[in-house]
Amino acid sequence: MSEANNSRVPDTHSLAEEHERLGRAAVRLIADYARALDAAPVCSRATPEELEALFDEPLPQEGTGFGEIFEQIGRDLIPHAMNIPSPRYFGLFNPTPLPVAVWADAVASALNQNGAAWRNSPSLSVVEARVLRWLCQLVGYGPESFGTLTSGGSEANLVGLKCARDRAVEGARDQGLRARGSDKKLVVYASEQCHYSFVKSVDILGLGRENLRKIETDSRFHIRTDLLRDAIERDLKEGHTPVCVAGAAGATSTGVVDPLDELADIAREHGLWFHVDAAYGGALAFSEKHRWRLRGIERADSIAFDPHKWMFVPFECGALLVQGGGRVLRDAFDITPEYLSEERGGADVEYDFFRYGQLGTRRGMALKVWAALKSLGVRGYAEVVDKQIELVEYLAARFDELEEFERVGEVETALCCARFLPAWAREQSPAAQDELQRALQQRVERSGGAWLATTVLHGRRALRINVNSFLTERRHIDYLVELLRHEGTMLTQGGQVS
Ligand SMILES: Cc1ncc(COP(=O)(O)O)c(C=O)c1O
Repeated sequence: MSEANNSRVPDTHSLAEEHERLGRAAVRLIADYARALDAAPVCSRATPEELEALFDEPLPQEGTGFGEIFEQIGRDLIPHAMNIPSPRYFGLFNPTPLPVAVWADAVASALNQNGAAWRNSPSLSVVEARVLRWLCQLVGYGPESFGTLTSGGSEANLVGLKCARDRAVEGARDQGLRARGSDKKLVVYASEQCHYSFVKSVDILGLGRENLRKIETDSRFHIRTDLLRDAIERDLKEGHTPVCVAGAAGATSTGVVDPLDELADIAREHGLWFHVDAAYGGALAFSEKHRWRLRGIERADSIAFDPHKWMFVPFECGALLVQGGGRVLRDAFDITPEYLSEERGGADVEYDFFRYGQLGTRRGMALKVWAALKSLGVRGYAEVVDKQIELVEYLAARFDELEEFERVGEVETALCCARFLPAWAREQSPAAQDELQRALQQRVERSGGAWLATTVLHGRRALRINVNSFLTERRHIDYLVELLRHEGTMLTQGGQVS
C-alpha cells in the first residue's frame, strides 16, 4: 500500500491490514519504551514553550502517512512523556500499567463497544457486571450489592454522594433541593485530608462547598471521631441535616486508613449514609496481611475503588460500589430516553449502565480490569501489594536511621511522608523549612532521577513518596535515598534554599 493511501480512511479490504501494520508499529514503540524504562530519566526537562514548538503545526489539510505520524510520536512525544511507568516514579497514585490490561484496552478500543446500553455492548456489559461482582466480593459486600465503573475516583465519589443526598432529601432528584422547603444546611462530613473531589461534589450536588465539614485529624492523620461526633451534634442542634459520613481508605496525602468500623457506628447511630473513599486503599483487600486495616468497609453504603490506581490498570477506570445494589443507583440516575426504550422485556435492561450513573457513552473499561484480575488473581495482587508496602517500610526505616530526615505520620499503605531537615535547617523558620522541601522536590525533578510530590500535613510541607510501580525494587529505593541526600546537600552547600 502506498504512503498516500495510508492516510486515507480504510475500507473493508484494508481495515485488517491497517490494524496489522499500525499494531506492529505501536508494539515496536511500546516495547522499545519498556526496554529503556529502567535506565531512562523519569521526566523531561522540556518547557511548555519547547513542547509547543515541537507540535506547532497548522490544522492538517492533507493526510499524513502513518509512518511519519508514528515517527513523530517516537521522536517528539515519547521522550517528553512523564515516565509514570518507571520504577523510579514515586508520585501520585499513578501506576505502571500491566501489559495484559494495556492490550485488553486496545482490544476494547478496536471493538468500540458503547457500554451505555446493553444492546450496544452485550458481552462487555455482562463482563462489567462480573468485574463489579468481583470487586464487591473483594470488599466483603453481599450478593445484593452492585455498582458501576466510572471515569475515576472523582466521579465515583460524586456518584456515591448523589445517592447519599437522594436518601437524605426526599424529592431532591425530581423537584430539586428547594422541595425541602427549608433553608437549613445539608452537611457532609469527611476528614480534612479528604480528596478535593469531595469539595467539587458537594458543589455539583447543590449542597455547597461550605457544607463539607472537614474534620481535623489526629497526629497520625486519621479523622478524629470525637470531633466528628461533636460536629454532627452541633449541626443537629442548629437544625441542619447531616447527610453523609465519609471515611478515607488510603488518603491522598498520607495513604492512611480512617477507623472505618467506628465511622460506620457513628453513621448508623445518626442514620447517615456511610461512604468510603477507597479509591487507592481498596486494593489492601487483596492482602491477607494488610486487609485488617479495611475492617468496617463492608458496612459502607457506598465505596469508591479505582482499578486505575493500585490495580495497575491503565487510565481511566474507577468504580463505585453500592451495598444496597443496582436499585439504589437506578433510583438516583435512571431515565428512559425515547431512543433507548424498545420493548426488550428481559434481563438486558439490568445491564444498561447509563441507568446507574452519570456517563452516557462509555468505553469498554471493564475488559482491562477483567483481564488484569484474571491474569494476577487475588494472590498475584496480594504479592504485589505486600511487596510495595514492604519497600515503603524499608524506605521509612532508611529515613529513620538518617539524621537529615524526619518522618511524618505512619506507613499504612505504600506511601511514606518525610521532611528533609539537616541540622542547619532545623534552626530555620517553619516557612524556610517548608520551602526547603519544595526546593528539594524541584531539584530531584530536574535531575530526572526520580519523581516525587510534596504535600501539606497539618500546615507543614513534606515530601510524599509512593511506590506505585510493580517494577520498583530495593535498589530503586536506595537510589532515591541517595538522590535526596545528594540533591539536599547541594541545597545545603549554598547554605540556603536555591
Ligand atoms: C483518595 C482519593 N480519592 C479520589 C481520588 C480521585 O481519583 P481520580 O483522580 O481517579 O478522579 C484520588 C486521586 O488521587 C484519591 O487519592
